[in-house]
Amino acid sequence: MLNGKSVLLGISGGIAAYKAAELVRLLVKDGASVHVVMTANAQQFIAPLTFQALTGNPVGTDLFNLEYESQIGHIHLARAADLVILAPATANLIAKIAAGIADDYLTTILLATTVPILVCPAMNVKMYENRITQRNLASLREFNTHLLEPEVGELACKEEGAGRLIDPSVIVETARRLLTPASLEGKRILVSAGPTWEPFDPVRFISNPSSGKMGYALASVAYRRAAEVYLVAGPSSLPPPHGVHFERVTTAHEMRDVIMGHAPQMDVIVMAAAVGDYRPIAVAPQKLKKLQDEVNVTLVKNPDILGHLGASRGVSGRPILIGFAAETENLIENATAKLIQKNLDFIVANNLTQAGSGFGCDTNQVKIIDREGIVTELPPLTKEEVAGRVFDRIEALLHITEP
Ligand code: CTP
Repeated sequence: MLNGKSVLLGISGGIAAYKAAELVRLLVKDGASVHVVMTANAQQFIAPLTFQALTGNPVGTDLFNLEYESQIGHIHLARAADLVILAPATANLIAKIAAGIADDYLTTILLATTVPILVCPAMNVKMYENRITQRNLASLREFNTHLLEPEVGELACKEEGAGRLIDPSVIVETARRLLTPASLEGKRILVSAGPTWEPFDPVRFISNPSSGKMGYALASVAYRRAAEVYLVAGPSSLPPPHGVHFERVTTAHEMRDVIMGHAPQMDVIVMAAAVGDYRPIAVAPQKLKKLQDEVNVTLVKNPDILGHLGASRGVSGRPILIGFAAETENLIENATAKLIQKNLDFIVANNLTQAGSGFGCDTNQVKIIDREGIVTELPPLTKEEVAGRVFDRIEALLHITEP
């Protein structure tokens, strides 16, 4: 996702400097080319060699290092990066940037760069809450910087409070967001994900093997394109994606109520959830005992959430509605029937019997079928790539209806 992007990571001298190694690893894994510049204090906490080994690039440490300066040059670094990340950013570094001080390699680059700067503070809670630090952070916000607030928790100094460096995975996700064109800016998008649980006693339920991965990938991709994203998820072990409004539900009824509550404000709804079609007619108040050899559970139909959304949208054609069809036979026929019945803009059909597709996989091979009956067959892709293709199509629809 950061393929072809150049990231300049500035590290200042705090105990969280060791976490910058994990950050670099994640950035490189994501495809970024990373150059690291360290303050003199940062080098007291972790050696430049670590970052040279992780990035494959020399590390900038000293403005007056003639060899490094002639090879790379601080002005070149300031210009060549697509994004600057400061992690950890100490109170001292933040104060220097706010004052426009350029007295070492890193601060000189920061004054010379015109690309976005992502500031990730980490420090003692009292230093963070200090009014001067807060004033400095407020003045950074006025310039070309994006701030990721530190986490609250136990700090290295054993105090509790705000000051822990935010998780490196959140920094990477924010970097992806900053380096992705904001093509869905101003759009409100609801995505549903995961299975539903339909209980028949307090500890048992009927469900399906949906992991939620497809819906979570859709939510993340829409966030990176700057949409305001609402993710309504059934039970899933995945951590909530960064940057989205997240609502956890259990049953199809709960999912319907939450989605219907949001629907009038949405521009787009993508139903990737594997909603349980049936639920047990009754939920026993206590755990059922195994007294009989056979037990019959009567199932009744659940509401068809997408069907209801399709039936109730007016001539405006809003919100745009996208469905998923998971089939084991007659893929195109069954998916097309759902597209028409549920009054969708397009449907993403996948064959559950195909290897590398469907429940729990990281990949998916899907066909997109539109209202004209045109079938677009996509190659095997990761679920994030499928999500990207789905939003490319949604953007085309948004442009058709909004000149
Ligand atoms: N869906 C829904 N509410 C339901 C069932 C499904 O909103 N009660 C949505 C799914 O999220 C998906 C689409 O409808 O986007 C198609 O779901 P699928 O399970 O493939 O089809 P069903 O309508 O349930 O039909 P069938 O089970 O007969 O294949």
